[in-house]
Amino acid sequence: MMFRNSSLLRRAVRQVSILRYNSTIAPLDSSRLTIEKTKQPKQKLPNDKLVFGRTFTDHMLEVEWTKENGWAAPKITPYHNLSLDPSTIVFHYAFELFEGMKAYKDKNGDIRTFRGDKNMIRMNKSADRIALPTFNGEELQKLIDQLLLLDKDFVPEGKGYSLYLRPTLIGTTASLGVSTPDKALLYVIASPVGPYYSSGFKPVSLEATDYAVRAWPGGVGDKKLGANYAPCVKPQLEAAQRGFHQNLWLFGEEGFITEVGTMNVFFAFQNEDGTKELVTAPLDGTILEGVTRDSILELCKERLPADEWTISERKYTIHEVEERAKKGQLIEAFGAGTAAVVSPINHIGFRNRDINVPVALGTSGELTAQVAEWIRKIQYGEEEYKNWSRVAK
Ligand code: COI
Repeated sequence: MMFRNSSLLRRAVRQVSILRYNSTIAPLDSSRLTIEKTKQPKQKLPNDKLVFGRTFTDHMLEVEWTKENGWAAPKITPYHNLSLDPSTIVFHYAFELFEGMKAYKDKNGDIRTFRGDKNMIRMNKSADRIALPTFNGEELQKLIDQLLLLDKDFVPEGKGYSLYLRPTLIGTTASLGVSTPDKALLYVIASPVGPYYSSGFKPVSLEATDYAVRAWPGGVGDKKLGANYAPCVKPQLEAAQRGFHQNLWLFGEEGFITEVGTMNVFFAFQNEDGTKELVTAPLDGTILEGVTRDSILELCKERLPADEWTISERKYTIHEVEERAKKGQLIEAFGAGTAAVVSPINHIGFRNRDINVPVALGTSGELTAQVAEWIRKIQYGEEEYKNWSRVAK
């Protein structure tokens, strides 16, 4: 190879040494897993005592990472506290990201996860955005399968019940310097859960929120970073004081509808010619790339009659929703996320005005109930659909 000048040569040498360096760095490797079983198994709670995210299974998965050596051998050990230096970078500069996934027990007693490959892709995008290490998603899914097999008895049975999985990645460098973490910890904990809202599949009321903003162009609203969640709690408390369950997050002077609470949001409209439209905001960088959102779009495109329904990812505003409601063209609305799956909406408060959303079936609209049931059947293995449901082996 000919080099025009010495700087090109230097760059080539540097590239080769980076490649060499990287080749000594260990990738995440599920075949190196070690398992230490608990000697003190926990009592399992009956379904009616389960509170979202309050109790955990007997074991957890952990994998340490260092810049020098890459991913260490994964470990499943009894659930335990973490011990970290108070200067650890996660506590000061929010080097933290997480995923939310669920595992379901099917009628044969097998444990299934739903579209975990999508969670792995999103988790890697979040990691890349905050300079934490990325990993092979299939390897983490294999490790999660092993955790599930070990803690199988904690997966509750029954409609609406599941084991919520919380893959988490934190920077663990003990330093107050704002820089790229050279140490990290990937861990997965699991919590047996029932319906996310204690009220179950009941419609919620929203306060259209324009005084606080969840995400903005060029920001990180499309990543699952812990830092996106804490600032949303106070506006939610304020909405609750005014009698609303959740915030309907608006953006910009136009009042674009973005998300609801911690979920994506969908609205269904009836057009003047009788055709219908299901609308959700496009993935423009301010919207979380929800797995439930994606599943609803795909199922609706495939299953709703195309001469009757248009499925749109487009920008739309609170003003359009208000106008449509006035004309009787707002048919239904629902939030969509892993925790609640589908959450019907019956009312929106906007600048002291009421927008009422019909709930034709009493607790939800027809489409809301239909999509919830389509997804439930795939999650619980009652219906095989593409490769969306994975049996832990
Ligand atoms: C979800 O709906 O899956 C969420 O992100 C909620 C979670 C933060 C508890």
